[in-house]
Amino acid sequence: MMIKFGLRRTAFLLLGVSTLATYAVASEPVEVPQQPEFPAQGKAAYVPRDSIEEFKSLPEYKEPTWVTEKFVKTGKLPPLAERLPKEPLVFKAGNAPDGIGTYGDVMRHVIGGRPEGWNYSAGQTQGWGGIDIGMSECLTRTAPLFQIEAQDMEPLPNLAKSWSWSDDGKVLTMKLIEGAKWSDGDPYDSEDIMFYWQDNVLDPNVTPLNAASPETFGTGTTLKAIDAYTIEWTFSESFPRQHLYAMAYGTFCPGPSHILKTKHPKYNKDMTYDQYKNGWPADFMNMPVMGAWVPVAYRPDDIIVLRRNPYYWKVDEAGNQLPYLDELHYKLSTWADRDVQTIAGSADFSNLEQPENFVEALKRAADPNAPARLAFGPRVIGYNLYLNFSGNGWGEPDERGQALRELNRDLDFRKAVTMALDRKALGESLVKGPFTAIYPGGLSSATSFYDRASTMYYPFDLDGAKALLEKVGLKDTDGNGFVNFPADRHGGRDLEVVLLDNSDYTTDKSLAEGVIGQMEKLGIRVVLNALDGKQFDANRYAGRYDWMVMRNEAERASVVQDTPELAATGPRTSDHHRAPEGGQLDLMPFEQDLVETVNKFIASSDDTERAELMKQYQKIATTNLDTIGLTEYPGALIINKRFANIPVGAPIFMFNWAEDTIIRERVFVPEDKRADFELFKETLPGKPGVGEGPAS
Ligand code: GLA
Repeated sequence: MMIKFGLRRTAFLLLGVSTLATYAVASEPVEVPQQPEFPAQGKAAYVPRDSIEEFKSLPEYKEPTWVTEKFVKTGKLPPLAERLPKEPLVFKAGNAPDGIGTYGDVMRHVIGGRPEGWNYSAGQTQGWGGIDIGMSECLTRTAPLFQIEAQDMEPLPNLAKSWSWSDDGKVLTMKLIEGAKWSDGDPYDSEDIMFYWQDNVLDPNVTPLNAASPETFGTGTTLKAIDAYTIEWTFSESFPRQHLYAMAYGTFCPGPSHILKTKHPKYNKDMTYDQYKNGWPADFMNMPVMGAWVPVAYRPDDIIVLRRNPYYWKVDEAGNQLPYLDELHYKLSTWADRDVQTIAGSADFSNLEQPENFVEALKRAADPNAPARLAFGPRVIGYNLYLNFSGNGWGEPDERGQALRELNRDLDFRKAVTMALDRKALGESLVKGPFTAIYPGGLSSATSFYDRASTMYYPFDLDGAKALLEKVGLKDTDGNGFVNFPADRHGGRDLEVVLLDNSDYTTDKSLAEGVIGQMEKLGIRVVLNALDGKQFDANRYAGRYDWMVMRNEAERASVVQDTPELAATGPRTSDHHRAPEGGQLDLMPFEQDLVETVNKFIASSDDTERAELMKQYQKIATTNLDTIGLTEYPGALIINKRFANIPVGAPIFMFNWAEDTIIRERVFVPEDKRADFELFKETLPGKPGVGEGPAS
């Protein structure tokens, strides 16, 4: 009661002052309003971290009968025990919601992206929606941590099966799983790790997917191989446990060095970096993976099919080699169609993340005979408007662009932009009801590090915003309704902002259009540059934009995942402020503060201190409008009812997307619920690059 009263009084005082004083007072930030209640439908039960998995050998191993009959007995494959590592990763039955599973069936995905090729290590996308997640395995794993309490939180072992710290905390020794093999049978060892690190992460000519760069793992960090199954990291800080998160998806998932080296310029002088990146196009089948499924068929704009990896190195407690599901489909359509098809039962899985589809999806899922379950979680999906902060050439702006960058770097200008945004209207243009909430920017309200009292907000105030524009010298000098640059900048012409936007998503388009409409009322002309996901990413990473609308990524939703990206901690870590080619970062003082706060957070292992640092981060970021929040809302996991082992309360997004969170290799379809969707029954992946389709 006391607190409530206090808050109201502050608001009253602010209001009272602002009517008397000038706009400068009205543009002081206040605490962000309380979000409307939205009860999550599933809540994860917390479990101890060591109850999920372990590494050990089991007395016997099993595989689908057809694999033994058609492949092992005919000499096409070595016996299972020889294909598995000495001590496979064993999922504990007690942690699996429905226990030990049975083999067969398919998970039918739909995606809006398109595959560029399979060279993940050189930054090629596979179309998202979990294709790459199912193919890649990383040193550690974080997606299942949604069920772990904060004080027990540390990434799970994966390809690195254990690790230990030196006494001074500067050296981290990791033991790799021993005797594991790529899906084509080639041994997996430290050579794969070192190739990824030295010739991809550290090679300035290569940018791996998710933009892993040396800074991702801490400035000055080195890595070396001690032997085939031991690697050693050396850090400049003591016990930077935070880096264990950077060793998970998607920044430390090495590719097959025995394949990739054949086209890397360092090992093959006839190749260029471009040829290396594009050396394994989407129609190159059977790309070796460490993940549970291997791509075996691809038809452009139609489908990608993946089949079980016969060398997969994970088993259940009864010794059954995983995955249980023999096949994955990726129908190449649109993201909105993923929701529609999953609800209708012609696909199996969707992250319901576009509010335009919420009402229809909820209505349909309420029918007891609906083919799919739908469960909403917390408000994990957020959108920001990013203003390009580089004033010294990142993205090579022209004269107009450069003049705009200078405005982007002016706090009064950013205040004008944020105060002209009616976030309630923006949210309601997506969906009516209690879904969307006012999001001023910074960290997501869904992370455990969120603190409302540290979250500052400039309330909607169009007149105040207009006054601020005047204050920074922007006036409509030609009377056409849009403000002009000052006479000494860009010839005093109309101020025009180019807004980069991802056209693969309806929501991104709706929000960009909303921003354009609201900026028009402020007197700023914004033109849309809507590009498909691939082009959007290319422009975003190259800094070729003035403003950009983008959905939040893991650093804002989890804080611990991709943490270095919360600020310009390195020349290539931030989404809206990078250094130009060969140049330096021109950080503003508040950005410098953000960098220091994030670096302290990464170096600290003290939970209380880390919580405090993130409060500081949030306050600095939201007061200075590091990003300009647009809206925030919950997502729902939609999954066909025939699947078992789907954890309750799995968020669609937190450390990673739900495709990883549900631990797909452990998901199965009970025999009485089997469907008949398999396209390549009783086949396994063939040799890398050979023909199309699987070998039988
Ligand atoms: C896209 C989709 C998400 C999720 C991810 C997985 O970004 O929009 O819902 O499926 O791919 O990478």
